[in-house]
Amino acid sequence: MVRKIIYAIVALIVVVQFVRPKKNIAVVKSPNAIELHYPVSKEVGILLKTSCNDCHSNNTTYPWYSRLQPLAWWLQDHIDEGKRKLNFDEFNSYTSKKKKHKLEEVIEIVEHDEMPLTSYTLIHRKAALTPQSKDKLINWAKGLIKVIH
Ligand code: HEC
Repeated sequence: MVRKIIYAIVALIVVVQFVRPKKNIAVVKSPNAIELHYPVSKEVGILLKTSCNDCHSNNTTYPWYSRLQPLAWWLQDHIDEGKRKLNFDEFNSYTSKKKKHKLEEVIEIVEHDEMPLTSYTLIHRKAALTPQSKDKLINWAKGLIKVIH
């Protein structure tokens, strides 16, 4: 009996590996990408790419563990939810009001160390923001709010 249950569990784990979420990888660059419409310095661009864009853009750089279920589903959940709330690749499709609001959220969230998610920086050590990179992101967002009318 116990052996059968163990076999069943092992079989389930194996089968589940083939049920993969659709990947968040865009073939063409979105015309609404933030850097095509607003100033994004090289430094800020790199910060966004390493710390935010896995969940807030149309392109995720998939880590090794994304091949393992259920980790991939968990990651995909963060990507879907993160993109729905804020997608830097679709930023220009937002109204001015929404753009400013999202940037205010960026300032607040970075100030309070709420992003990137801790569960993410534990594995993606490079994504953790230093005090200097936090200042850079905050100043960038503040400057951008001023140029959006
Ligand atoms: C591992 C995925 C992940 C990473 C990396 C990540 N986020 Fe998020 N982010 C989310 C998820 C999921 C939500 C929605 C749930 C929540 O608000 O906690 C979110 C919400 C937000 C929101 C709130 C938007 C709103 O309207 O409520 C902002 C702003 C934000 N993230 C900014 C950032 C910034 C800036 C970075 C990089 C420094 C970043 N995030 C990195 C997953 C991520």
